[in-house]
Amino acid sequence: MRSSTAADPGPFLRIRIDKSSPVPAYAQISDAIKKLLTPGAIPAGTPLPPERVLCEHLGVSRMTLRQACDALEREGYIESHRGRGTFVAPRRMQKKQQEMRSFTEEIRKRGMTPSSRLLMFRTIKAAGSDLDFFGLPETELLYELERVRMADDSPIAVERIHLPQYLCPNLDRFNLASNSIYKILEENYGLKLAHCTEEISAAIPSKAHRQLLQVPSRSAVLVVHRKTYSDKETPVELAMTTYRGDLYTAIVYSVRSAT
Ligand code: GLP
Repeated sequence: MRSSTAADPGPFLRIRIDKSSPVPAYAQISDAIKKLLTPGAIPAGTPLPPERVLCEHLGVSRMTLRQACDALEREGYIESHRGRGTFVAPRRMQKKQQEMRSFTEEIRKRGMTPSSRLLMFRTIKAAGSDLDFFGLPETELLYELERVRMADDSPIAVERIHLPQYLCPNLDRFNLASNSIYKILEENYGLKLAHCTEEISAAIPSKAHRQLLQVPSRSAVLVVHRKTYSDKETPVELAMTTYRGDLYTAIVYSVRSAT
């Protein structure tokens, strides 16, 4: 039997790799570690066994192990701290781009309770990018709504959306702090929200956003601009959501086309 050099071998040393598999060893290691970490069973901050111990256990070179760890770190599963070692990273909510969800659905799916704080609701004239996207005359009015979006009472995002008034007249009769906008649009205005495009970028939050999101000054946020269309290809929503960069990861699913 192999003698274990780690005091507590832990779940990481139960990982095995299949040398006869066509899947490269580093990918097998990172997949196995992801599986261990995905259910949140191993608390954030738990150290991974030292590199030497893992290499010996898995029968791989340091280079292979580092390749696996680099990938895991890029995807936010682990964090390495110079001189201290590698640790399980705090659980991030993964934003799966291929599924168009409302904030409410996304948070519930993760077993948390969504809520919102309404910061602003007003009617504005269509201007600038609204005119291009909605294809409306300048006389048309839009609703502008700003909310802080929360999961289990912690702020996750600040969201500002524009919706054409003609699609959802008298939207103000609903409680917009406690209800899902997508649900209101679908159940009360007969709209079928079908697809969206999103542009994702990193940004340094404004002071106001820092305060609303309760993040320190030297932090980054993920800004997502969403354009939402109905099943009839009607432009329905122009949204800008500013997510806490420490809690959100954007995962983009792409399929290689045949051409
Ligand atoms: C996400 C999208 C927004 C959308 C919102 C609707 O956060 N990025 O564009 O407006 O969901 O969420 P809900 O239906 O919970 O109000």
